[in-house]
Amino acid sequence: MFFSKIIGVGHYVPENVVTNFDLEKLMDTTDKWIQERTGIKERRFHPTEEHSTAKMGAKAAIMAMERAGVKKEDVDAIVFATLSSDYFFPGSGVLVQKILDMGTIPAIDIRAQCSGFIYSLSVADQFIRSGMYKRILVIGAETQSVALDITTRGRGTAALFGDGGGAVLLEAHSDEGKGILSTHLHSDGNFADALRVKAPGTGRDKTFYPGIEQDHENIHPYMEGQLVFKHAVRRMPEAVIEALEHNKLTIDDVDMLVPHQANLRISQMVQRMLKLPDDRVYNNIQKYGNTTAATIPILMSELWEQDRIKEGQLFALTAFGSGFTWASALIRW
Ligand code: UT7
Repeated sequence: MFFSKIIGVGHYVPENVVTNFDLEKLMDTTDKWIQERTGIKERRFHPTEEHSTAKMGAKAAIMAMERAGVKKEDVDAIVFATLSSDYFFPGSGVLVQKILDMGTIPAIDIRAQCSGFIYSLSVADQFIRSGMYKRILVIGAETQSVALDITTRGRGTAALFGDGGGAVLLEAHSDEGKGILSTHLHSDGNFADALRVKAPGTGRDKTFYPGIEQDHENIHPYMEGQLVFKHAVRRMPEAVIEALEHNKLTIDDVDMLVPHQANLRISQMVQRMLKLPDDRVYNNIQKYGNTTAATIPILMSELWEQDRIKEGQLFALTAFGSGFTWASALIRW
């Protein structure tokens, strides 16, 4: 019997800090509105193409491997989560493989947006449980800033998202009850159009149709904010409870909830619904905004740096986002 455990975590965010006050100069918004509605104070925007999605993911992966003391030659596969891949195709996973010079190991891209990291963790966990691979890099990275409409027209989404990358290294072990206990994945495509970027895409005559550059509704993120909010605060706690029940555990067993960072108000509502005290929930949206597939590995890497991950502790991960997709994972460290 094989199980997987996280043996290294890493993250990378661009140095370029964009505060709410910086956004005030570019659109009709205020620091007060953004902080009150979302909790965000600042985010990172990639300053040059040197910070592409794959490049940030590769930097996070190097940190995860270094912290684990594992050489790249000993990694068997890459699973990469992003909604903002460097190319239309191929995905960013193979670009990370090329940057890191990782031979011919498989590189798989997962498209599950804000739930992408937990989906990827689940895919990697299944490969390890089946005995197919021993060590897998799971990476989540995003370059959102290049797709945002950073004007008053796009303020409903432009103030929310940021750039960055995070990674974990999974390794096979045989100690039942340790590492990733279970993952739980869900989606509901009926809500695909409630949060999306539609173009460029192949769902029309031409991928790049005349006038695409002016088609602001389709080339920038479109979100029915209140609808997404309503579903997020229902689905995230539901997924945590599903994971706890599956493992015959209760919320009192959870040492740390690591929620996807879409809005501090969402995290706080999830926390209240699960009746968790402040010291058992970790948020960092204030510094980075919503980095989609990168939020959870960035949180994990910061917790690691703060020495807040102890052997035997139980971590509950949960995410909700475009698709709709939602997911949870329980990890016994
Ligand atoms: O990670 C993927 C999942 N995403 C989410 O979970 C996001 C879920 N949704 C949300 O977090 C919230 O719905 C938002 C933060 C996006 C919006 O907050 P809200 O309290 O739902 O505001 P709203 O959309 O109802 O907008 C209220 C007002 C509107 O003006 P009117 O129509 O009342 O005149 C907006 O135009 O706020 C306006 N507004 C802004 N004002 C200043 C929207 N964006 C901004 C802005 N600055 N950046």
